[in-house]
Amino acid sequence: MARGMRKGLTSYGDQEFSLFLRKVFIKAMGYSDDALDRPIVGITNTYSDFNPCHGNVPSLIESAKRGVMLAGGLPMVFPTITIHESFAHPTSMFLRNLMAMDTEEMIRAQPMDSVIVIGGCDKTLPAQIMAAASADLPSIVLPVGPMVVGHHRGEVLGACTDCRRMWSSHRAGDIDGDEIEIINARLAPSVGTCMVMGTASTMACLTEAMGLSLPYTAAVPATHAERRRLAEATGKRATEMAVSNTPRPSALITEDSIHNAMVVLQSIGGSTNGVVHLAAIAGRAGIKFDLGAFDRLGRTVPVLLNLKPSGQHYMEHFHHAGGLPRLMRELRDLLKLDAPVVGGSTVGDVIEQAEDVPNQDVIRTREKPLKPQGAMAVLHGNLAPRGAVIKQSAASKELMVHTGRAVVFDSVQDLTERIDSPDLDVKAEDVLVLRNAGPKGAPGMPEAGYLPIPRKLAREGVKDMVRISDARMSGTAFGTIVLHITPESAVGGPLALVRNGDKIHLDVPNRSIALQVDAAELERRAEALAPVRTMAKRGYAKLYVDTVLQADEGCDFEFLVEDPRAT
Ligand code: FES
Repeated sequence: MARGMRKGLTSYGDQEFSLFLRKVFIKAMGYSDDALDRPIVGITNTYSDFNPCHGNVPSLIESAKRGVMLAGGLPMVFPTITIHESFAHPTSMFLRNLMAMDTEEMIRAQPMDSVIVIGGCDKTLPAQIMAAASADLPSIVLPVGPMVVGHHRGEVLGACTDCRRMWSSHRAGDIDGDEIEIINARLAPSVGTCMVMGTASTMACLTEAMGLSLPYTAAVPATHAERRRLAEATGKRATEMAVSNTPRPSALITEDSIHNAMVVLQSIGGSTNGVVHLAAIAGRAGIKFDLGAFDRLGRTVPVLLNLKPSGQHYMEHFHHAGGLPRLMRELRDLLKLDAPVVGGSTVGDVIEQAEDVPNQDVIRTREKPLKPQGAMAVLHGNLAPRGAVIKQSAASKELMVHTGRAVVFDSVQDLTERIDSPDLDVKAEDVLVLRNAGPKGAPGMPEAGYLPIPRKLAREGVKDMVRISDARMSGTAFGTIVLHITPESAVGGPLALVRNGDKIHLDVPNRSIALQVDAAELERRAEALAPVRTMAKRGYAKLYVDTVLQADEGCDFEFLVEDPRAT
């Protein structure tokens, strides 16, 4: 098999000429023949002025390159697209599959024997892992790491659970315009990903749990020297992988590693987005993500990590308490310990070496969990035939069984225009319903599931209400919020049939979400539904709307899920 510079030669009908020409051009960069004969380690560059979460990528690349060269390899850095949550219109999720396609094809197209993918902001790690799974070249993930915490008036703050909490207080009139501007500059005090258990931290933990990154890479802060040492170690390991041509993602993304990721997702109080991304990653490896199994794990796996938004602390405290290996050791009887990891050993080996930190309250013991059950529950019922997800660890106890009157918003736009209207007919015990915010409907399934409390209720002190939608929610958010209702309303899912004033019953202990309207009436409403309209006429938007799968299948494109290794 061709290796290094001989790999994947451009087609001119004469292989030796193709190599000759390739070397002509690469020598323009000053490379020697000695360098060009080395095993090649590709390194993705996801730095962008529009992605502050990846602000440390240049320094990580420098450290990873050092590691590659110390091990005798040739590092080759190449750009891929990058996505930041706040700089992606209409939503970052809309672009995740584009990033996955870009990364996969660039890994395939260019001559490299292994690849380091550097990512972190919410959609980037899932996109890169989906790409690596499909390209199936020896791959190692290097997360950029979380930000350090901020401080305001003696209080520890962080993006973006506290962004939401502070903004809610501002909406309720408790924080004035001057103070909210000061807070604005203190919520994200360094580069790196959000330092609560949002989607970025969740995906960094799941990546490490699946053995796709080196131990401790999930939690070491972005700005710490240790993060750069981990980058160097990643470079060294990537060179060994380039030489041995192993392990490939297909050896690491297995039923066992997906199981371990599910256990960790439940136990860290992870983001609901983790369910969608894990389903997409599993799909790329030809594994069907089992929502039922995930829910069953949630009944036995406790939340052990005391991090916001489910608990109190932040990612840097998780690192100082021993990081993910220490947390996983606490769960060892629930894990597949023989699952291999990218470093060459097994999950069991890694967690046995985890450090014990005395007197810490971040990683709880099984005897003293933060919550006795897992972070998430999967709901079914006539409103969600293929399932819906609730993050019960961040919900209000008193709303876990609740019946309320539906107050319906037909789109994100409709929600924006009417939620704060003084004329809105809404009470605290109602159920707020948002539809047409799913994968095809929005499109891109925005994080609009965290419907704001209507201003008039917020001013009365209402902090939480039952809110349901086919949208997603930021992992940093909290509240009694049912998400990912599948099938979505835009493809005729039952959410499309809800009318203002209908009764909706939520019963989390019994895993049910029901529209209390009789079946004959629902049938009548379904017959009267307008046919689904596809708004996108051209380009990537059309590709997206035409081919995106539903949330239970990870919102991947249908033509990407099929395992390319089978062909
Ligand atoms: Fe990038 Fe939160 S915005 S991780």
